[in-house]
Amino acid sequence: MGKVIAIANQKGGVGKTTTAINLSACLAELGKKVLVIDMDPQGNTTSGFGIDKEEPENTVYQLILKDCTIREATHSVEGIDTLKVIPSNVDLAGAEIELLGIKEKEYILKNEVDYIKNDYDFIMIDCPPSLNMLTINAMTTADSVLVPIQCEYYALEGISQLIHTIDLVKERLNDRLKIDGVVFTMYDSRTNLSADVVNTVKDNLNAYVYKTIVPRNVKLAEAPSNGLPINLYDSKSTGAESYRNLAKELIDRK
Ligand SMILES: Nc1ncnc2c1ncn2[C@@H]1O[C@H](COP(=O)(O)OP(=O)(O)O)[C@@H](O)[C@H]1O
Ligand SMILES: [Mg+2]
Repeated sequence: MGKVIAIANQKGGVGKTTTAINLSACLAELGKKVLVIDMDPQGNTTSGFGIDKEEPENTVYQLILKDCTIREATHSVEGIDTLKVIPSNVDLAGAEIELLGIKEKEYILKNEVDYIKNDYDFIMIDCPPSLNMLTINAMTTADSVLVPIQCEYYALEGISQLIHTIDLVKERLNDRLKIDGVVFTMYDSRTNLSADVVNTVKDNLNAYVYKTIVPRNVKLAEAPSNGLPINLYDSKSTGAESYRNLAKELIDRK
């Protein structure tokens, strides 16, 4: 059965989407069957895989309103046979209100994903930058949460709130849920600050810390505008290398 990993941190700009795209693509490159679910109305994971956000008839939005099946919402990605995407776009921003009063609204995504869990090795969910009902749906679906932490001064801000939310979901909605681990992103080896942040987080957080640290790499920032994951955009870049290593580490830990 596929392992479901939610990539979450309510802080914006920490590398959730970059990790969702590139870690998933590298898992697929290593022969794993991967489904990526874009739970962010910004749809950056969707466009990062070269899917036009406005194009798909069936997205996460139609899925959670039960206007389509999960297989109908699942789209192929050019150039990567073993990777599929359930896209999203700005429509999803209205979902929270539409879900008001709906029974079991915390489990809508989970109930759908249960149908196709056996078809994949990994199901990766890119979360929005907030702890809203979309994130709760991701966490009730997930087996674990992967937390990207940006190597900058306020890195730990909000992390205790995130961990509290994960604990609450575990207690009340999904007793399988655990913290998969923390991955550092945008590491700058030229500054002491990045190294300081890594050490502070290690000292203060009781969670697995991935040995692979993702460096700041301009190719990672460029790739989405070409609609390509890093391994297809620039396979030899340090960004591609690091997400490949992260994928291997994740597989070894499974
Ligand atoms: N390792 C990296 N090196 C360089 N730029 C990065 C890296 N990771 C992310 N970025 C850039 O930082 C910005 C925020 O990253 P993103 O993955 O969208 O964060 P989030 O999904 O948490 O909001 C994006 O413009 C992205 O291209
Ligand atoms: Mg994002």
